[in-house]
Amino acid sequence: MKHYIVKGGNALSGEVEIAGAKNAALAILAASIMTNDTVTVENVPDVSDIRAILKTIEVIGGYVEKVDRHTFRINGSGINRDTAVDNEFVRKIRGSYYLIGSLLGKYKKASVALPGGCNIGLRPIDQHIKGFKALGASVRLASGRVDAKADRLVGSHIYMDVVSVGATINIMMAAVMAEGNTAIENAAKEPHVVDLANFLNSMGAKIKGAGTDVIRIKGVSSLHGTTYSIIPDQIEAGTFMFAAAATRGDVTIKNVIPKHLESLTAKLIEIGCQVQESDDMVRVVATKRLGRTTVKTLPYPGFPTDMQPQITVVLALSKGMSFVTESIFENRFKYVDELTKMGANIRVEGNTAIIEGVEQYTGSTLSSPDLRAGAALVIAALAADDYSEIYDVQYIERGYEDFPEKLRKIGAHIETIDTEEEKRRFMFQVG
Ligand code: EPZ
Repeated sequence: MKHYIVKGGNALSGEVEIAGAKNAALAILAASIMTNDTVTVENVPDVSDIRAILKTIEVIGGYVEKVDRHTFRINGSGINRDTAVDNEFVRKIRGSYYLIGSLLGKYKKASVALPGGCNIGLRPIDQHIKGFKALGASVRLASGRVDAKADRLVGSHIYMDVVSVGATINIMMAAVMAEGNTAIENAAKEPHVVDLANFLNSMGAKIKGAGTDVIRIKGVSSLHGTTYSIIPDQIEAGTFMFAAAATRGDVTIKNVIPKHLESLTAKLIEIGCQVQESDDMVRVVATKRLGRTTVKTLPYPGFPTDMQPQITVVLALSKGMSFVTESIFENRFKYVDELTKMGANIRVEGNTAIIEGVEQYTGSTLSSPDLRAGAALVIAALAADDYSEIYDVQYIERGYEDFPEKLRKIGAHIETIDTEEEKRRFMFQVG
């Protein structure tokens, strides 16, 4: 079975380029079909979740042209009002639920299979539904599908009971062509929410306040074509920042927006790393064993839940006792058992991991429970002595473009292998 083999112990060093943000791209690609004009989207990451949404757009009648590895031309005029979105690709990914907002916004009707995605908690969609209903849609959940429709959508004042990235994005898409004004209060402020608003505005939408608690939308009658470049992926960037810290390396991470990384930078400095920032890069240097801290995941600009496993891997090697509290998803510590196999000393009580730092990890055979936890286990393997083998890398490939290749460029010994022969060859090469 295809998996990664890693020989740990090398300090990572050099430069790495960050791809476009997966979670922004999922929303923007779903929104790109809201006009009948052609839309060009640049800086699209080449990862499996994105391939799944592009495939879905094609299957429902959209036209998708690959201009180059990271640029796509999309035309949604071939999609019709009665299209049902239900195929193997939709059910695999979370981001497919953005097609509910985009189709409802454009055609006042959407029928979309319930989303899949990483198993990190219950992940209800009640806030999405509340928003669609507030705009005048009737919404029914039946046979694993969300059916939403309206004669007209009318702007409304919507207060979100929880800060939800997905619901904020979905409601924004449903509201851009509603009649009159919409206000979304207690909105998510993540960079990809802002990126989607900027994209929709470039198509003629009238959205203000994205990035603050209140997003105000003035309905327009139609949207038009555009060319738009997606922001860099702050979680991919953060993953490399913490890989540098765990291996006591010196890595310059290029094509980033340092402002989006502030909560990560602050924690790295607090535990003893040096972090340098310039316009579009950050450099993380760790020269000694790092220190302890306390972390609580929060909506942006707080510490992201998508970086919780990666910081835990670093803190489990740091001096002293650290505490990591997961406050967004209830099932995001599944990787702790795997880290324990490597020698980590972590106890999970409720939603808090209590971590007593150890000096060293030892290599082990590991399984990725989900996307970010899988990436975190790779970091642990890079810091460990000896060899590790990491299975279920299909989760990692959902959101990291060329992960082993990028790591190799900064000095990691990592290879994707499938056979005993390939394993022997790798071990012979790295010694
Ligand atoms: C998005 O998920 C991301 N996914 C996740 O990234 C990320 O972890 C998460 O936001 C938080 O930043 C995509 O963008 C495709 P939420 P989403 O709605 O939208 C509760 C990754 O690794 N909630 O912000 O599903 C929910 O249970 C993935 O790239 C409701 O109660 O997250 C959670 O506790 C994993 N009702 C909290 O809100 C709702 O209707 C935040 O969830 C919606 C959410």
